[in-house]
Amino acid sequence: MKYFIDTANLDQIKEAHDLGILDGVTTNPSLMAKEGIKGNEAVYKHYKTICEIVDGGDVSAEVVYTDFKSIVEQGKQLAAIHKNIVVKVPMIPDGVKAIKWFTDNGIRTNCTLIFSAGQAMLAAKAGAAYVSPFIGRIDDSGWDGIELIQQIANIFAIQGIESQILAASIRSSLHIIKCAEAGANVCTCPLDSIMGLTKHPLTDIGLAKFMEDAKKFA
Ligand code: E4P
Repeated sequence: MKYFIDTANLDQIKEAHDLGILDGVTTNPSLMAKEGIKGNEAVYKHYKTICEIVDGGDVSAEVVYTDFKSIVEQGKQLAAIHKNIVVKVPMIPDGVKAIKWFTDNGIRTNCTLIFSAGQAMLAAKAGAAYVSPFIGRIDDSGWDGIELIQQIANIFAIQGIESQILAASIRSSLHIIKCAEAGANVCTCPLDSIMGLTKHPLTDIGLAKFMEDAKKFA
């Protein structure tokens, strides 16, 4: 499974990249707004900086329009920023139409805001490189996000569908493990959830003992 970080914060992206495990980045308009970035020029510049930090990993950049023509126009601009930009398109009818247009024109897409297997199947049919089910938001509404990942993974395996399942809206380190188990190809996570994977109290206790004993032969 690949590890993406789900943020537009440059320090967090650098920290995950320095760990040596980062495969890519996802952003969305809310994450960009959180960083206080304003205006198309500044937003596009920010995407370029992110691409340069991850150097080689895919970076999802989301369109902020909902009609086919505007999605395609902005998607072309986003794709022109850097070869690793993947245009993030919402799961709406005009979005599906735009994903097909991007596919036919050699631009890779990530279909976002997926909450059902049917939505994932349609995005894949249109040629999305990634489909993004929002695990945490599904859990928040009393449904089981991991079950959706399992269902999509099962359908994609049976049907030989090549779109990557990008588990999004991750809330915990356990989510990451469960997504891997359920068959996600990629998990996009907050930095805390990634760092949480390094932690175990027995590791801390064991290390303290090793460091103490090391003093005996230093
Ligand atoms: C995915 O690409 C989205 O940016 C993200 O995972 C949404 O997560 P949230 O539900 O925590 O906002």
